[in-house]
Amino acid sequence: MSRMIVFYYTLEGNSGFAAETAAELAGAEIEQLQVGKEPPKKGLGKFLVGGGAAIRGTDPGLLPVAAQLREYDAVILAYPIWAGKFPPAIGAFLERYDLTGKDVYVITSSSSGNPGKSVQQVAAKTGGVRAYLSLLNPLKHREEAKEQIKAFLEQNQLNG
Ligand SMILES: Cc1cc2nc3c(=O)[nH]c(=O)nc-3n(C[C@H](O)[C@H](O)[C@H](O)COP(=O)(O)O)c2cc1C
Repeated sequence: MSRMIVFYYTLEGNSGFAAETAAELAGAEIEQLQVGKEPPKKGLGKFLVGGGAAIRGTDPGLLPVAAQLREYDAVILAYPIWAGKFPPAIGAFLERYDLTGKDVYVITSSSSGNPGKSVQQVAAKTGGVRAYLSLLNPLKHREEAKEQIKAFLEQNQLNG
């Protein structure tokens, strides 16, 4: 059986909830990606600063991850959609850590339910994404999100 880890970045907890749910249901390890520079958590600044950084791909000062990537052959990346893209933390993670050759899956959280261009962005940096799940603000629809995650894991034979 392959060993799997869930890496997630979250500003407001939705992707954190999705990542924890997926890791628990799959019996996978989990690690939060943390950055030195977060956008403001409230107000318009959140969208302007965060969205601008996502578009420009600004380095957010990603902290080193503790996990040894060579120990895993499957990786789930969970993150929110920012301005139609993945947040800078995910870009920095994919720059620094090589996921080529691993089975890569993506779970996005957004307020539109649309993963934007982010899955193609991840695929371009990792050599391919096996499957993705796009969640609509999972913290507002916890039970539904949990069912969607469960079905996603089952479809991809990732349930623990
Ligand atoms: C900077 C920023 C930009 C965003 N841009 C989008 C977007 O382009 N499309 C969308 O559907 N939601 C967008 N959102 C909403 C988030 O994707 C959504 O609230 C998500 O569930 C938050 O996940 P989190 O709680 O893990 O941070 C944006 C939120 C922020 C903070």
